Formats: sequence, structure tokens, C-alpha cells
Amino acid sequence: MPGLLLGDPFPDFEAETTAGRMKLHQYLGDSWGILFSHPKDYTPVCTTELGRVARLSSEFSKRGVKLIALSIDSLEDHCGWSKDILAYNCEKSECCRLPFPIIADSKRELAVSLGMLDPDEKDKDGLPLTARCVFIIGPDKKLKLSLLYPATTGRSFSEILRVVDSLQLTAERRVATPAEWKPGDCVMVPPNMPEEDAATLFPAGVFTKELPSGKKYLRYTPDPHDLGESVDPGYSLIQPRQCTSIL
Ligand code: BEZ
Repeated sequence: MPGLLLGDPFPDFEAETTAGRMKLHQYLGDSWGILFSHPKDYTPVCTTELGRVARLSSEFSKRGVKLIALSIDSLEDHCGWSKDILAYNCEKSECCRLPFPIIADSKRELAVSLGMLDPDEKDKDGLPLTARCVFIIGPDKKLKLSLLYPATTGRSFSEILRVVDSLQLTAERRVATPAEWKPGDCVMVPPNMPEEDAATLFPAGVFTKELPSGKKYLRYTPDPHDLGESVDPGYSLIQPRQCTSIL
């Protein structure tokens, strides 16, 4: 059975979490949302991942993104393990709370319905663990992006922040972002946009790269959000580049 597809309405499930019982859509409100799963509490890669998300949580908040984690362990385990994650992040905190809730899906109901299980990683009883899934949900509650990593490969949450920047920009403006794009870099004019429309929509200029085919599809324009200053997206310091330097 195929899992969720891009554009599908994201299920409004109800779940037990470290912040109490909640319904997903009510928790998300009008925000963007990221639901990310991990295989198992008290495991090394997962500890580094949730520690990294905790450190980046203010960057996600700045972008209006609410986070929620999931694994197939109990609430008790989630709370105990949260203290280890905070200690890994060197936070001397009495509190067991991370800056996002963790869903306790001990019966694997959500993991099964959302296609999150990794058949190659099993627990001591031979049951599959959760894979490393990322679902990015738009304010319209539709799926905007999904990633699925095996248990043995930890994710880059800087990359997930980067794709949030791209998703939010491209939801608002008729542009696309090229490989390795970061805020402040030039963006691309979509291939189906006529030249006259591009000239009107992008007063900062459209820069077209000459190609052997003679086809004029590699068209850049400055990042429409760029204020002409260095932009720090919170995961790496970058300098805005002139589109002409790419040509
Ligand atoms: C980990 O988080 O370290 C992990 C969990 C399951 C399988 C492999 C690694």
C-alpha cells in the first residue's frame, strides 16, 4: 500500500505525548509542522538527533514551525531518555522536557498507518523499529515533503531547516530553489514561466545562462527575500551571491 503522497491531507490523529494527549491538527494550529520519527529511545544516533533538534528548536520557531517526534517506546521511557538528551546537550536542567513533544506509539499504530517501520531493524522480540521519517506539513495540513532514512543513518537537521526555507519561499513566490540553495542565494525562474511574465515578476532581473543546446531554461533571479545583507539562516553563515557570478 503506498504511504502518504505529497499534497495528501495529513491525518489528524490523536496521540499520547510527553506534553499530554493531543490531536495533531489542534497542536499545529496555523503553523507549519514537522513530524519526525526515530527507532528507539536510549540509542546513540537517536540521542544525537533529538539533541540537535532541541538545539535548533528556536530556528524552527522563528520560521513558525512546530515540531513533534515519535517512537514506539512508552511515555516513561521518553521522559527518562529526555534527561539524557538534555545532558548530551550539556543543559543542566531539572526538567525532563525537551522543547517539543514526543509521541508514545507503543502499540505501533501510528508507525504502521504512516508507513514508518524499518523492516531491517528489529527489537529484542523481532518486531520492526521505526525508521527515521520526516513529514513536513503545511499550514493547510497537507504533506509538503517527506524523507525516509534507515535506522543506521542519522539525519541532518540543518538540511531540514534549509528545505523549510525553500518550501516557505516557494509557497509564497513563483520561484524554485537550485541544488544546495540557501537563503540569500539566487533562485530559479520556473521553466514554464514565459519570458514576459518573468520580466514583470522579477524586477531585480532575470539572468539566463547560455547553454550548448541554445535553450534558455537556466534562468536565475535574486532571492526575493534578500535584503542585500549577509543572511545567517541559523545553520551556516553565508554571503548573498550575485546571480551574475553563477553565469
Ligand atoms: C541508534 O539510534 O543509534 C540506532 C537505533 C537503531 C538501530 C541502529 C542505531
